[in-house]
Amino acid sequence: MTIVHTDPPNIVLKGLSKSFSENHDQGNFVLENVDLTINRGEFYILLGPSGCGKSTLLNILAGFIEKSSGELTIQSQSTAKEENRGFVFQSADSALFPWLTVEENVEFGLKMKKVPTAKRKEIANHYIKLAGLIGHNQKFPNEISGGMKQRVQLARVLANDPQILLMDEPFGALDAMTRRTMQKELIRIWTETNKTVIFVTHDIQEALTLGQRIGIMSVGPSSKIIQSYQIDMPYPREITSPNFNEYYKVVQSHFD
Ligand SMILES: Nc1ncnc2c1ncn2[C@@H]1O[C@H](COP(=O)(O)OP(=O)(O)OP(=O)(O)O)[C@@H](O)[C@H]1O
Ligand SMILES: [Mg+2]
Repeated sequence: MTIVHTDPPNIVLKGLSKSFSENHDQGNFVLENVDLTINRGEFYILLGPSGCGKSTLLNILAGFIEKSSGELTIQSQSTAKEENRGFVFQSADSALFPWLTVEENVEFGLKMKKVPTAKRKEIANHYIKLAGLIGHNQKFPNEISGGMKQRVQLARVLANDPQILLMDEPFGALDAMTRRTMQKELIRIWTETNKTVIFVTHDIQEALTLGQRIGIMSVGPSSKIIQSYQIDMPYPREITSPNFNEYYKVVQSHFD
């Protein structure tokens, strides 16, 4: 499947660099000269080894941390607003409010937007069901497992219906079966809603299951996107197909 993009790109990075040291003229770059263009509605994967700077890059895209130099453009007024970017964190522990129940956590953004109670409950319950959390609505985060917390986090972000989804290894802590379910659901949601998804993983199989395009990041420090691959396979992807295997070999060769 080849997607033809008619809209202007959604996100453009040019020569973006990041150093955490006080004086970044002296180097110590985590990211150096990252160039990246992501189209509206695209499902883009950032794939790279642990510690290369994937979370750092995603946090810059979210507006949580500042770049040190270079250009970052998020196109169109609507998506430039932070509320139109939804972030799924690598760990749900700090993302959920411990004093709110599962349902209240999922409803939180809608409540802030003053969505009427009945509508809010309807939307929250839709995503609670989707995330396989029915029956756990009234539990608190410390009463559910790590994988369940991660699913609550995902349900909450989806309930807010952001145009851009920034996902940092969101399924890394899930068991294999739940991960497959969530991957399928994410593809279904993305197909139906035309959201732009930027998804971080270090798992090649996950990258090839989900991405329209995969950007390979080099080993840090001074990491950048060394190559992008367009993955022309229809969804749902068949992980045992010869085509999948061919792509796997090509991508894997970067990490040998
Ligand atoms: N706030 C910070 N201050 C200083 N250094 C940081 C900070 N955040 C990240 N780093 C460093 O930046 C580098 C990249 O970290 P980052 O968390 O972005 O990697 P990652 O690719 O997401 O790794 P993983 O796959 O393990 O999650 C690491 O060397 C890390 O120590
Ligand atoms: Mg990370």
